[in-house]
Amino acid sequence: MTAPQLIQIHHDNPAAVRMELLHGLLAPQAHTSPKYLYDALGSRLFEAITELPEYYPTRTEAAIYSACLPEMALHLPQGATLIDLGAGNCAKAERLFEPLAPRRYVAVDISVDFLRAALTRLQREHPRIAMLGVGTDFSSGLALPPEAGRAEEAARLLFYPGSSIGNFMPHAALTFLRSVHAACGSAPGSGLLIGVDLIKDTVELQAAYDDALGVTAAFNKNLLLHVNRLAGTDFHVADWQHVALYDTAHHRIEMHLEATHPVRVSWPEGTRTFTAGERIHTENSYKWTPVGFTTLLQEAGFRSPTVWTDPAARFAVVWAPV
Ligand code: AVI
Repeated sequence: MTAPQLIQIHHDNPAAVRMELLHGLLAPQAHTSPKYLYDALGSRLFEAITELPEYYPTRTEAAIYSACLPEMALHLPQGATLIDLGAGNCAKAERLFEPLAPRRYVAVDISVDFLRAALTRLQREHPRIAMLGVGTDFSSGLALPPEAGRAEEAARLLFYPGSSIGNFMPHAALTFLRSVHAACGSAPGSGLLIGVDLIKDTVELQAAYDDALGVTAAFNKNLLLHVNRLAGTDFHVADWQHVALYDTAHHRIEMHLEATHPVRVSWPEGTRTFTAGERIHTENSYKWTPVGFTTLLQEAGFRSPTVWTDPAARFAVVWAPV
């Protein structure tokens, strides 16, 4: 049986992670990078979020693929190297195997351990597709290892579903998309297939990030437990409440953790006090218009994109050729 190739090219430096976290916690407006929402429990809580009635993005994106895949396939390259960014359980990319018959599948995620089980199953079911799992942190720019194949040998289809691009500040999204454009190479047919959440009614947006069951609240508060392990802090989850609000000026959901009473947080060589109501900013989730997002893709170097949305224009899937 052919086994997938698995390589880990990024290893966190624990001292640098600690410094970055403490720097953010000591800032006048305390903040942490959204990547710290994803330890093993955080990843499972995020999967639960995608099943919530209020969290429309995952199911809306899936509905767009169900309705539009035959038409999308007319634009997308056949027999390409399919490169899946943030692949996780690889389920979204698997939908593309039948219509696009990729020659190689490269699943990229922060840790190759997240990919092992899914890739092993997929390789068994699709023995003709060469499969590679790459563990790397691509959030500050994408660089692929030589094992991903040469960009000239086949078209490259970069796949970034789920609107994770919304978790980048707009200037960082542009820098990231430029690195994706470079990673696409210049073989004919190459490009980026990406999902993006669209601007909509504030009430619907806030409900999606503050669900009645409290799963998103748990996802947000779990960051404190992760930070305790990484930075040696002594956060108590019960001191904090989840806040999700839509900033209409910046078109972004902001997630915060708010101190419910005065709180002192300590770590081996420091401390910070938070007054009641003071917040730690944990995530932004930007919402775009189709025009705003296709303009961003063109600024990043892509040619004229094609956009598919659901009938209510809640979410968009965009094909941006190089
Ligand atoms: C991963 N990302 C696209 C999610 C979002 O909608 O911004 C993360 C999330 N945060 C709270 N709920 C979901």
